[in-house]
Amino acid sequence: MPFARVDGIRLVYDVYGQGVPVLWIHGFPLGRWLWDPQVRALADGVRSITVDLRGVGGSSAPEGPYTMEQFAADLRGLMDALGIERAVLAGLSMGGYIAFAFYAAYPERVRGLILADTRHQADTPEARANRYALIDRIRQEGPRAAVEAFLPRLLGATTQRERPDLVEALRRKMMANPAVGLIGALQAMAERPDRTALLPTIRVPTRILVGEEDVVTPPEVAQEMAAGIPGARLVQIPRAGHLANLEAPDAFNEAVRAFLSEVGGA
Ligand code: MLT
Repeated sequence: MPFARVDGIRLVYDVYGQGVPVLWIHGFPLGRWLWDPQVRALADGVRSITVDLRGVGGSSAPEGPYTMEQFAADLRGLMDALGIERAVLAGLSMGGYIAFAFYAAYPERVRGLILADTRHQADTPEARANRYALIDRIRQEGPRAAVEAFLPRLLGATTQRERPDLVEALRRKMMANPAVGLIGALQAMAERPDRTALLPTIRVPTRILVGEEDVVTPPEVAQEMAAGIPGARLVQIPRAGHLANLEAPDAFNEAVRAFLSEVGGA
């Protein structure tokens, strides 16, 4: 497994394909495997970089709290290590929160943004309180508490009905993440800033994707985000929930390909 040393930690990553560099940023509580349906399918035209964020999979899981800014600095360090000056950032959900933090700190390193099933707002007080309650449960019960809290909401109704295999595969993979990393990321999400004021300052081509059945970051939020970013366009993915790239890979990949051809990539 290739890895880079960044800021004293080890980040496990993969690079696959030829073409425009796309740095894929996974959501919570997932891992770089989230992007399996993209990297091979898009390999002709896309140089995909996938990475386990700190706290996940094969990467180091130092004690938290983590922050979105820290995750973004890790990714910039990875780009430096790989000699990549500018990349398209593709972030799903928490990956989108990180993409916003990255753009805010290092806009010159960003060639375009793909924001999938994510939101620009901070947590409401209620959502924040729920994160801290979940942290307490993870401390007592381990990663299972996070899997139980998230799994029922991540996949859309169609996938839950028609793809029990995917539900089970997801459960197994989510269970593999260590408690310390889950807690660190939950703290980062709870404390993340609102990005509404950032939206009109975004100056790179942006595509927003959302599963029509996403109940975590629903289409209305995606519409608001698209309206706020100059020139951004929204693509809604039918028969998919919050993990639209995994649930409807063909439609998702088609939208990515179309976007990258406009950016001057694939
Ligand atoms: C994610 O998919 O990354 C999380 O569901 C996002 C969140 O809980 O806000």
